[in-house]
Amino acid sequence: MISIIGSGKVGSAVGFLCGSFSLDNIVLINRYEKKAIGEALDISNAIPESSSISITGTSDYSKIKDSKVVVVTASSGVHLQSRTEIMYDQAKMIQKIASNIAKYAPDAKILMITNPVDVLVYVIQKEASFSSKNVIGVASNLDSSRFRYLLAQEFGTNQSKIQDAIVMGEHDDTMVPIFSRVKYDGKPVTDLLDDAQISKITLDVRNYWKYLRDYKGHSAFGIAKNTFDIINSIIKDETLDVPASVLLDGQYGLSDVCVGVPLTINKNGVVKIHQIEITQNEKESLSKSADTVKNNIAKVLEFLKN
Ligand code: 2OP
Repeated sequence: MISIIGSGKVGSAVGFLCGSFSLDNIVLINRYEKKAIGEALDISNAIPESSSISITGTSDYSKIKDSKVVVVTASSGVHLQSRTEIMYDQAKMIQKIASNIAKYAPDAKILMITNPVDVLVYVIQKEASFSSKNVIGVASNLDSSRFRYLLAQEFGTNQSKIQDAIVMGEHDDTMVPIFSRVKYDGKPVTDLLDDAQISKITLDVRNYWKYLRDYKGHSAFGIAKNTFDIINSIIKDETLDVPASVLLDGQYGLSDVCVGVPLTINKNGVVKIHQIEITQNEKESLSKSADTVKNNIAKVLEFLKN
């Protein structure tokens, strides 16, 4: 079973993909039960005729019992300039969600979408002592999709010609697009782009969510599909290599912090954290990015104590 906490635009889009691909039974949780029931009724009609899965909408957390995957998309408000803007309220909300997951689905793989995602991966895990391999922050794969798209735009080509576009680090203003590994049609993009182009693409990857906010008010489909891919790998036990946020323990010289790094995921959660070759500059940027997340984690933990 897949449980999705929060059935707003992102939660319902994730539910829609899981339902239409008949992945597993689905429970949508929303504090406004009518909203969850409505989304479930709608998604029910997208389930293939031959499928035996069901989808339920509820505000009752006991319904998530024994879920294999719990996706957290709930939000306590809206952020406008930075994803850390409402981090204290989000952390309070996550505390409650953590206790419900610990009570009803302690062995679930938890996919965190709620922002600031890296901080909240840390918080949810520490709050309920979940195993670190079971808690994954979904964002760097979305950022990597955006990076790939922007590079393709820059070269006037399509995404299939861009290989190994990975974004690491915080899912916010310090994220690190790893230019040194990317190839366009087999050629290193660092041989093809000048400094101004690199700076512009870096800024555009970081600000992509703001462009979406300005054009359509929110982001939903990109994050939903990138989340679906991870759910799919867990439910079907298909190995997936993907960048995502996880608790680090010495990798890249970083410890006791969660940021996006390349992972291998399957039904057991995170089975490998890859230490890929990156340049010294990229390492330094990643370190700074992790420091930003660490600072925010410290502030949030202090707040939650009081
Ligand atoms: C995004 O990057 C807002 O984190 C969300 O689309």
